[in-house]
Amino acid sequence: MKNVVIVGAQWGDEGKGKVVDLYSSKAEYIVRYQGGNNAGHTLVVNGKKTVLHLIPSGILHPDKVCLIANGVVFDPAVFFKEIESLLSSGAILNAPYERVRVSDRAHVILPYHCLLDAVREAKAAGGKIGTTVRGIGPAYEDKVSRRGIRVADLLDASTLKMKLAHALEEKNVLLTQLYGEHAVDLDALYASCVELGERLRPYVADIKSLLMTALQHRRTMLFEGAQGTLLDIDHGTYPFVTSSNTIAGGALTGSGIGEGAIGAVVGIMKAYVTRVGAGPFPTEIEETEPELAEKIRSIGQEFGATTGRKRRIGWLDLIALKYAVEVNGITGLALTKADVLNDLDHLKLCTSYTLGGNTVYDLPSRAEDLARIEPNYEIYPCWPSYDTKKVESKQDLPEELQAYIRKIEEFTGVPIVLLSVGPGREETLEISDPFQED
Ligand code: GDP
Ligand code: IMO
Ligand code: MG
Repeated sequence: MKNVVIVGAQWGDEGKGKVVDLYSSKAEYIVRYQGGNNAGHTLVVNGKKTVLHLIPSGILHPDKVCLIANGVVFDPAVFFKEIESLLSSGAILNAPYERVRVSDRAHVILPYHCLLDAVREAKAAGGKIGTTVRGIGPAYEDKVSRRGIRVADLLDASTLKMKLAHALEEKNVLLTQLYGEHAVDLDALYASCVELGERLRPYVADIKSLLMTALQHRRTMLFEGAQGTLLDIDHGTYPFVTSSNTIAGGALTGSGIGEGAIGAVVGIMKAYVTRVGAGPFPTEIEETEPELAEKIRSIGQEFGATTGRKRRIGWLDLIALKYAVEVNGITGLALTKADVLNDLDHLKLCTSYTLGGNTVYDLPSRAEDLARIEPNYEIYPCWPSYDTKKVESKQDLPEELQAYIRKIEEFTGVPIVLLSVGPGREETLEISDPFQED
C-alpha cells in the first residue's frame, strides 16, 4: 500500500477532514504535519458532527494511531480540551495517549503568541490578514528566530523558566511599549507550563523514530494537511497566507520522512471556491453575484469551523487549481461539495485571467496584481439533482457533472479519484484508490 498525503488545493476548508476520516480506514497512522488549531476539520459520521482543530481526523476509527508531528505548532490547552471532548462523546476510550502522540520537537503556542496575534490584528491600520487569532504566526516566528519553546521543554521544569524568561524579555517590551498591553507574568506562565508539561508527558514521543519503525514494518501512513495551497507561506497569496508550508513538501519537513516514502498526493478541492479572511480572491462573486454567493453559502454552510466567520464564495478557478497541482505534485484530486451546486442555472469556470490588457495563464506573484486581475470564464450548464444512492460509478452521474469532471481533469492533467456529494462518510463515490500500488 502507498502512503498518501492529503493537501488542500485551494484556500482551505475544501473538505480535508471528511476525506481523511474516510481514507483512515485504509491507513494505520494518521499524521498532522503543519499548522495548528487554526485548522477546523469537520467529520460527519452516522449523522453526528465532530470538529477537530489539532487531533488528526483518523481519531474516530478506534484502531488507528494519530500523530502530531514536529512541524505543527501545538497549543496544549486546546489539545486537552479536544481530548476531553472526544472522551466525553465516547469517540475515544480511556488511555487516549495510546492512540494520540505528540512530537517532542513540536513548537508550543503560548498565551503571549495568541495575545500578540490578537493585538496585531486589532491594531493594524490597514492590511489586516484576518487571522484565526490562534497565535499561529507568532509561534512560527519564534521557531524561526530560535526563541521557541518546544514540547520537550515543557517536560523539563529545571530549564524551562530560563527559556521562558528569555522569550518574555522581548515579548513584554512589544506588548507593553508598542501595543499598550499588560506584561505577561513569568511566574504564573511558568507554573501553568509545568502543569501542562506533566499532563502532556504520556503523550510525548519521538515521532520521526516512530514513523521510521512504521515504515520498516510497511505500515500505511496518511498525512493530513491543514489550510490550503494558496495559504502556503512560500507559494500562497503572500502576505495573506498562514505561516507554514501547507503544500505536500510540508509533510516531509514537518514529519521527518523522506520523499521516497510518499506514494500519492491527493488534492482536495471544492466544486467552487471559498476563502475566509482577507486577501485577493480572483473569482470571488460576493460583489458581482451577491444573491448567488448567499445561496451557495447557505446551502454549503460556508461558515468557518474555527472562527464562525462567513466564508467568501467564488467560482472554480482552474488556473489556481493547476498551480496547486504543480506545487504539490498532486497525483489525484478529490472533488467535494458537488451537491451544493445542484440545479444552478449555469456554472462558470475560470480558465485564464486578464492583467493590464494581457491574457495570462499563471498566478501573478504580487498581492496587488492578484487583486486587480480579471477572471475569464467559460460557462457550463449545471447538473440536475439526482439520486446519489443509484450512483455506483462515474458513468451513472448526470452528463453535465461528468463533463465538469472531464474539464477539470483535462485542464489539470490529473484524475479525479473521489467525488463527495454530502458531508457524511457514505455520501461519497470513490473512483479509484490512491493507496493501491500501480
Ligand atoms: P476542511 O478544513 O478542509 O476539513 O473543511 P471544513 O470541515 O472546514 O469545511 C468543509 C465543510 O463541508 C464541513 O462542514 C463538511 O462537513 C462539509 N462537507 C464536506 N464534504 C461535503 C460535500 O461533499 N457536500 C456538502 N454539502 N458538505 C460537505
Ligand atoms: P483548514 O485546515 C481556511 C486563514 C485565515 C487567514 C490566514 C492566516 O480548516 O482548511 P492564521 O491564523 O493561520 O495566521 O491565519 O489563513 N486560515 C484558514 N482558512 N481554512 C483553514 O484551515 C485556515 N487556517 C488559516 O483565515 O486568512
Ligand atoms: Mg476547515
